[in-house]
Amino acid sequence: PAPGWAIAADVVVVGSGVAGLTAALRCEAAGLRTVVVTKARLDDGSTRWAQGGIAAALGEGDTPEQHLDDTLVAGAGLCDEEAVRILVTEGPDAVRRLIETGAHFDESTEGGLALTREGGHHRRRIAHAGGDATGAEISRALVEAVRARGMRTVENALVLDLLTDADGRTAGVTLHVMGEGQHDGVGAVHAPAVVLATGGMGQVFSATTNPSVSTGDGVALALRAGAEVSDLEFVQFHPTVLFLGPDAEGQQPLVSEAVRGEGAHLVDADGVRFMQGQHELAELAPRDIVAKGIMRRMREQDAQHMYLDARHFGAAMWEHRFPTILAACRAHGLDPVTEPVPVAPAAHYASGGVRTDARGRTTVPGLYACGEVACTGVHGANRLASNSLLEGLVYAERIAADIAASHADGTLHARAAAPLPQAAHPANPLLPPESRLTIQRIMTEGAGVLRSAGSLTRAADRLHHLHSEASEALHENGKTSEPGVDTWEATNLLCVARVLVAAAAQREETRGCHWREDHADRDDTTWRRHIVVRLNPDRS
Ligand code: SIN
Repeated sequence: PAPGWAIAADVVVVGSGVAGLTAALRCEAAGLRTVVVTKARLDDGSTRWAQGGIAAALGEGDTPEQHLDDTLVAGAGLCDEEAVRILVTEGPDAVRRLIETGAHFDESTEGGLALTREGGHHRRRIAHAGGDATGAEISRALVEAVRARGMRTVENALVLDLLTDADGRTAGVTLHVMGEGQHDGVGAVHAPAVVLATGGMGQVFSATTNPSVSTGDGVALALRAGAEVSDLEFVQFHPTVLFLGPDAEGQQPLVSEAVRGEGAHLVDADGVRFMQGQHELAELAPRDIVAKGIMRRMREQDAQHMYLDARHFGAAMWEHRFPTILAACRAHGLDPVTEPVPVAPAAHYASGGVRTDARGRTTVPGLYACGEVACTGVHGANRLASNSLLEGLVYAERIAADIAASHADGTLHARAAAPLPQAAHPANPLLPPESRLTIQRIMTEGAGVLRSAGSLTRAADRLHHLHSEASEALHENGKTSEPGVDTWEATNLLCVARVLVAAAAQREETRGCHWREDHADRDDTTWRRHIVVRLNPDRS
């Protein structure tokens, strides 16, 4: 749609989690005119839901090198070592700066940071806040800092497409604002730098730990803009999500890895521990290994879930250390103080995303990506627990530094946006909102934890059918007038789902969180490489 109004800035940050707000605060501190645009409210994204914490070599005896080793092992041969080195060496100071910004982390009895363990970490290195409410505290501190500085924010605004100049360089974004009064309807923010920090795509599956806003908008925008996207097949399924029944759909309550980090056990339907013997770290093996261990035992016992047993914590520890999880369990009639709670894997994190370099630059000049939407290379085939908040922090700071430097040397300056096509493109038709549920079911059946050529082909065919139906409807009815957010979300979900399925079908091996029933082994000869996707300019 054609923008009806426009505002100008030096940088527009799309998204308001740890990555987006950190980038925005640092850009603003560098004197750049910064606008934050977010689809719902400032604190509505995934960051707020993060429980376990933020990993960094902050403990006595720990080193970035050890953090690097654990990250590379979890990443199953596909991490970019240099990107990880940046993450782990810059991480500790980035956490300290977050504390200076106002985030309060839990302290040990000796007065330093209290650090816990999670899957894949050989040391206690996860800082946490409010027991198990780390993301909520980080979000609170960053939102307060943004408000205290009087920064320009546009809430309830769905960013639709990237604006570029005649040479394909970033010139801003179009966005659809709902109910903000001053700037309602479709408008534009003109800026030579755009930072995508839109989070993940968990809503592409039926059951996920992600909030309803995680619909792959940033990856879909980047694909439409011709940017490269990488590693989409590596969707991480969190091993321990509260099991609320086989038909539970939408956001599900997470039971943090930190619960296992503090000593909880996974047990099967007979009450028997089953992770011992599968990995030297047992329940604290990297996340993909635990998720697979759970799925295998579920199949062997024809069970819909396993159990997490932490009764031995006692009521006081549950209340003090894991108040959020305790409340979520009790809200569903379960009491982890007195009974093992049912858990099963659910979609949690996109290890892939919009491909960037070490400065957060994508392959479209002026377009940056940061946080879950990005693929910096730090996660490889399977993200190490609690590296995501850290990645958001570290790479947001690097992006802000790069934008400030490019602004200062004159390479980033305002550009005239070339007009957008005025009609919806037949290769990218808008989907009816109710398609969202259909996409989620197709993806869960065909491209979930365990995949095969057959399941992926069926998923691809069904997604193609949805796409064809929408194209035909567009052809018959012409352009949809004023599509709402739910229409765009369904459209974006289909876009990322199709690329994800194509990548998962192509990768004929099992590696990290990509698990193929028909190719059970890791194949380093053929597949120690990335699948990078860039849509043709005709968006096909
Ligand atoms: C958790 O608390 O288990 C989630 C941590 C993460 O996703 O890194």
